[in-house]
Parts: sequence; structure tokens; C-alpha cells
Amino acid sequence: MANIPDLTTLVGKAKEVYKNEFNSDAEIVVAAPGRVNLIGEHTDYNDGFVLPMALPLVTIIVGNKTQNNESVIITLSEDIKENKKVSIDNLKKCIKSDPKPKWANYVLGVIANYIGKTSSFEAVIISSVPLGGGLSSSAALEVATYTFLDALNGLNDVLPTDKALACQRAEHDYAGVPCGIMDQFISVMGKENTALLIDCQNITSKLIPFVSDEVAVLITNSNVKHELTGSEYPTRRKQCYEAASLLKKISLRDADKKDVEELINLNVDEVIIKRAKHVISEIKRTTEAAEALRNKDFVRFGKLMIESHYSLKDDYEVSCPEIDELVELALEVDGVYGSRITGGGFGGCTVTLVQKGAVNKVINNIGDKYKGKATFYVCAPSNGAQIISAPYL
Ligand code: GLA
Repeated sequence: MANIPDLTTLVGKAKEVYKNEFNSDAEIVVAAPGRVNLIGEHTDYNDGFVLPMALPLVTIIVGNKTQNNESVIITLSEDIKENKKVSIDNLKKCIKSDPKPKWANYVLGVIANYIGKTSSFEAVIISSVPLGGGLSSSAALEVATYTFLDALNGLNDVLPTDKALACQRAEHDYAGVPCGIMDQFISVMGKENTALLIDCQNITSKLIPFVSDEVAVLITNSNVKHELTGSEYPTRRKQCYEAASLLKKISLRDADKKDVEELINLNVDEVIIKRAKHVISEIKRTTEAAEALRNKDFVRFGKLMIESHYSLKDDYEVSCPEIDELVELALEVDGVYGSRITGGGFGGCTVTLVQKGAVNKVINNIGDKYKGKATFYVCAPSNGAQIISAPYL
């Protein structure tokens, strides 16, 4: 099982590098989490429901204000092989010509979409969220950057929803991923011991208590990297919009089972029917799952997770053999309620709801039989973004 480094250790490491690089102590410290989506996949950009929880895996930024109008930022992420130290001002000049390194696009995008004026800074980023693992490392970086700018500028009065939307715009315009709102929203709004039922139609949410002595959330990273900038994610989005438009609806949120029949009668391309079928059924499953969680009905919750997985595999076609293998291996073990792919797909992680006493059996079963090399995290629902220290607030 992977060790989740605690906040103090991460902050300590980042501060040490800051001191060596910039010859002073970093006074601002902020953190923003990654997330795991329990259920409600590919529903956010269809105005549907999602049910994620924030993770104890976090991105931390430490730093200070500078007076010279020059911003410099360093990442300590081991997964990044590109340039790890960048001058934001140099990058700004070449925005249109696809600035490298890629990770800096997220920071630039948030600076460009920040609501308010921002001063220059020096900062160091450190993260325990695995990159490209489907746990929203990009949203964690965006939200950490936004939170850092708040701490830097002494501002903190923008609505959480608007922060999430600004971070989503950064991802659309600077990273080229036409994502929904789920990842940024949960990274801003997550709360300890709860999952968040987000209604993506009107961007509101309800906290669903999720504490139990009985069950654990086991995340298994297939270590197959996913890239949402490829054509698959935008293609899925377009197929959903096409289905909604053929049904003369604003979005698939307004559609139901009968509309799938309607698409069949209209002789629509089978792929479009399958995409619509997934989204319509997944939106329904998500509200049912929220109800099951509220009632601590983990058996029901697990069944819905399994249905969700097969719908994503067969109708939405965003799984891959490694992820399917991980789900099957988890489901072989007694004490597992449910298991499914989580996040955008094409690799990344599975999420498994399992009795606490059976966690090690799942890990061993996967360890023995999985063809790749998996990494495991047992995570409790954690807090959203926070300013840990800020002299200007
Ligand atoms: C990615 C996107 C989210 C959402 C999921 C799929 O994580 O960033 O907005 O669409 O995929 O549920």
C-alpha cells in the first residue's frame, strides 16, 4: 500500500527547497486535494449528478509575494520530466505558441482567469496526487494555484463556485481539456467525512455523510496513464450533445429511458444510442447511490458501482483491459461491495468499496494476479482547498 505523506512532511520539503532557491522563508502555504469519484462518470458535462469525495492526496504551494513583477515557480513533482523551474512572465509571452512545459499551463491559466488583481510571487509546488492517474492532479494544481493567489493578494471573498469555474476555464483554455466542473468543484468544496452530491445543472451540492467503521474506499492505480487532451474525451462530449439535440433537449439530464427508445426509433447511429444510454442510466444511478450512502446501504451502493463500471465499459467505451482486470480481481474477493473505473477513463484508477477487514485480501489478490503493477491507497473523505498560512489575510 502506498504511504500517503502527511501535510507537514510535504510542506517541510517544499519550504526547504524554497529557502535554498529564494533565500528566504516561504510564508504562504496552501493546499488543494485530488478527488476520487464514487459514481456519476461522464455526467457532469451533461448537466447530471456526480458523487466525488476529496482525497488526503494533495497539491501544496508555498511561497511569497515579490515586488519586482517577476513570478517564478518551481515544481518538485517527480513525474514531471520537463523544465521544473519557470518564469511565468517569459511563458506569458509565448502563450499562443503552446508554452512548454505543460504543467505550467495550468498555473498560467489560473492566473489569467483569477478574479481580482494579482501581484508577482515566487513559489514551490509539491504534490502527492499521482499525475495522469484519474485522481484530478490537474484540478488540484489549478485550485491550489487559485488558493495561493487568494492568500497572496489578501482576497478570499469570491464564491467557491466562481473559483471552481475560473479553474475549469483555465483547464479548457490553457490545457485544452474540455472538462466538466466536477474535479475543480470538489477540490474547492470537499469536506472531511462526506461525499459531495453535485448537481451540475445548477452547480449546487449536498454533503452526504460518509463515515463508517465498517467500510473503506480502496483506490487502485493501474499505472496506465491517461491523457484527456486526446480526441476521445471531446468526442464523447460531442456524441452526448448530438443525442440531446436529436431528442430536442438542452442536455441528456432532461432525458429518460423512453428517450433511448426514441433514439432507436429514429434509427440513430448505434454509438450515439450507447453513449446516451450510459449517461441517462448513470445520472439515475448517481442519485440512487447518494440515497444508499445516506442510508449506509453499502450493498446497494456497491451494486450501483458495478452497473456503472459495465455501462462505462460497454456503452461509453472509456475503460481499458487493465482497468477491467482490476475490477474483476477486486470483485472476486468476499467483502467487496463494488468496484469501478473512476475519472475520465482510458487508464488511471479503480475505486472499490470494501469491508475494512477485506482490504488486504483485495490488495493481495490484485498483487498476485494483475498483469501490471498496481499502487493502492486507502482514503477517507477529506477537506477541500485550504489556506494553511497567509501573512496578508
Ligand atoms: C474528467 C473530467 C471531469 C469528468 C470526468 C468523467 O475527470 O475532468 O469533468 O467529466 O473526467 O466523469
